[in-house]
Amino acid sequence: MSDHRSSALVAGGGGFIGGHLAARLLSEGYRVRVVDCKPVDEWFQVHPDAENVVADLSLLDAARAAVDGMDEVYNLAADMGGIGFIEGNKARCMLSVLINTHLLMASRDAGVDRFFFSSSACVYAAAHQAAPDLEPLREEMAYPAMPEDGYGWEKLFDERMCRHFAEDFGLRTRVARFHNIYGPHGTWDGGREKAPAAICRKVAAAVINNDDKIEIWGDGEQSRSFTYIDDCVEGIRRIMRSDCDQPLNLGSDELVTINELVDLVQEIAGSSLKRRYNLSAAQGVRGRNSDNTLIREQLGWAPSVSLREGMAETYSWIYKQVGYASHRFLP
Ligand code: NAD
Ligand code: GDD
Repeated sequence: MSDHRSSALVAGGGGFIGGHLAARLLSEGYRVRVVDCKPVDEWFQVHPDAENVVADLSLLDAARAAVDGMDEVYNLAADMGGIGFIEGNKARCMLSVLINTHLLMASRDAGVDRFFFSSSACVYAAAHQAAPDLEPLREEMAYPAMPEDGYGWEKLFDERMCRHFAEDFGLRTRVARFHNIYGPHGTWDGGREKAPAAICRKVAAAVINNDDKIEIWGDGEQSRSFTYIDDCVEGIRRIMRSDCDQPLNLGSDELVTINELVDLVQEIAGSSLKRRYNLSAAQGVRGRNSDNTLIREQLGWAPSVSLREGMAETYSWIYKQVGYASHRFLP
């Protein structure tokens, strides 16, 4: 019997955002194919109702096999991480251009209906992010271009390639610029983790081990906004369904300093810790916030989960992971 459900490829679905997106698409009734280069036992989530495939999507043949028979392609695959990883691995980050290039070519040739690319706030020009309290980033502020070295250039180039595949080949491409997404089932240790997960891990480890201090990168006065995973997945779905073919910010506009983020996690954990500031650690831009005017106007999307709610969920999940990793039984 033939299967009439809409089908979707989630490239990089063994990772954080892709794992959550695959769950959402399955719940909407999609036939889902998840492809990731990691062995399945290293995937953050495995959905038994999906077709789960291990393949290196930087190779054109693997990209062609992955998109075969798919109506929609969501490219969440990249070799990336938090600021500590992207500052030290610029060439590796740029090589992710092969994944998007080959997925675009394969999607064009296979007649895919819609293609989603996950871009980043790292495309924005450095001059707009030199202080903790500058104006939020509007989409047009990516040009004139001076993005984050390595990773940001790869994202900006790939955004541009999506635009030209749409103009020249008629492939319907959609692009979101994610602003620091966090939540359960993400990277929380190993060097690729971002600030929300790293701070949860450090506080949880201090609580579990009865330590009285944690290390913070920088002086803690740099600012960011952080977006909860459920809001991110809802935004991806709305952008994919929309007629908007321009890159859109997909981020929270609840700006905090890193010190304020640490205060919040300590409050959630009920702990009081001393901070040691490591001024030689990677810090990235001094300040970054998302201007959500365009996505609100175009799609009616705005974040619905506060930082306090989202971090409470995230801390609780990471606290358990730290406990399992140290073979402790935790309440
Ligand atoms: P993640 O690292 O958890 O997931 C990415 C997945 O891609 C990993 O599971 C990895 O194994 C897979 N992958 C890497 N190279 C591959 C290859 N050659 N073939 C197949 N799979 C490959 O990252 P994430 O946080 O889920 O991010 C998803 C996307 O969103 C990425 O493109 C990332 O650059 C972008 N993004 C994320 C954030 C964020 O805060 N999480 C912010 C901006 C942009
Ligand atoms: N990772 C991490 N770990 N960051 C820390 C820590 C820590 O223990 N302590 C303080 N920070 C500070 C960093 O120095 C940086 O100034 C800030 O927290 C945010 O760091 P990250 O979350 O690692 O990265 P980012 O916000 O600079 O960039 C991230 O978000 C982009 C999208 O908004 C990266 O993940 C990019 O890959 C992503 O595209």
